[in-house]
Amino acid sequence: MDKLLGYALSDKPITIYEEEYKTPEYYWGLEPSQACYEVLKLMPPTKHLKLLDIGCGEGKDAVFFARNGYDVTGFDVSDAGIEKTKRLADKVGVPIRVFKADILDHRLDSSFDIIYSSGVLHYIKPEYREEIFSNYKQFTNPNGIHVFNVFVNKPFIAPPPEYEPNAYQWISGELLTYYHDWLIQDSSEVIFDCNSSGIPHQHAMTKLIAQKASYS
Ligand SMILES: C[S@@+](CC[C@H](N)C(=O)[O-])C[C@H]1O[C@@H](n2cnc3c(N)ncnc32)[C@H](O)[C@@H]1O
Repeated sequence: MDKLLGYALSDKPITIYEEEYKTPEYYWGLEPSQACYEVLKLMPPTKHLKLLDIGCGEGKDAVFFARNGYDVTGFDVSDAGIEKTKRLADKVGVPIRVFKADILDHRLDSSFDIIYSSGVLHYIKPEYREEIFSNYKQFTNPNGIHVFNVFVNKPFIAPPPEYEPNAYQWISGELLTYYHDWLIQDSSEVIFDCNSSGIPHQHAMTKLIAQKASYS
């Protein structure tokens, strides 16, 4: 498989992170993303809450949520990432459901209280977005929340050093357009430094926290 092309011989897209995840080190570290704490603040696990982590990577956030008492399901397209997530959950001694799926193909057929995703939504092709977010919204319990981080394109920030043929840019405000009928708890944007690939660079990211009404 040619890592740069990001395609296996079957022509099925796989992530550039598959090889990185095969090493014992945690490519993304073990510290949970900041957005995890927003979930804890907004919807603390004082009752049984089902949480989905879309593109869970090596599991740092999914396992953090499980440790804090959420009922966690995660999926990712990377086999190595899924194995690492399972191993991390076993090591910490928390239950977690993880499976392999491509965000473009997978649709929800059961409901969650919290749908969470960090650094993954740019793998959704623009023409799939409306349908996929409609599915995620439909399969969210009343009062449930979506907590998403999405990379957005800015003309004053250079493209990231990793070449990803299966990544599709978002623009500022685009994610918000799918949530006009939900309560927007946050829709802010940050620019941050990143050192992935060992090359210092920057990203612009939109954070979206939206809550479904209690009566729907
Ligand atoms: C930037 S990493 C973020 C990982 C994790 N959310 C975290 O914050 O540690 C992006 C993740 O998206 C996954 N990914 C890439 N393409 C995907 C797809 N089509 N479907 C599902 N996951 C995908 C990668 O395997 C990788 O784990």
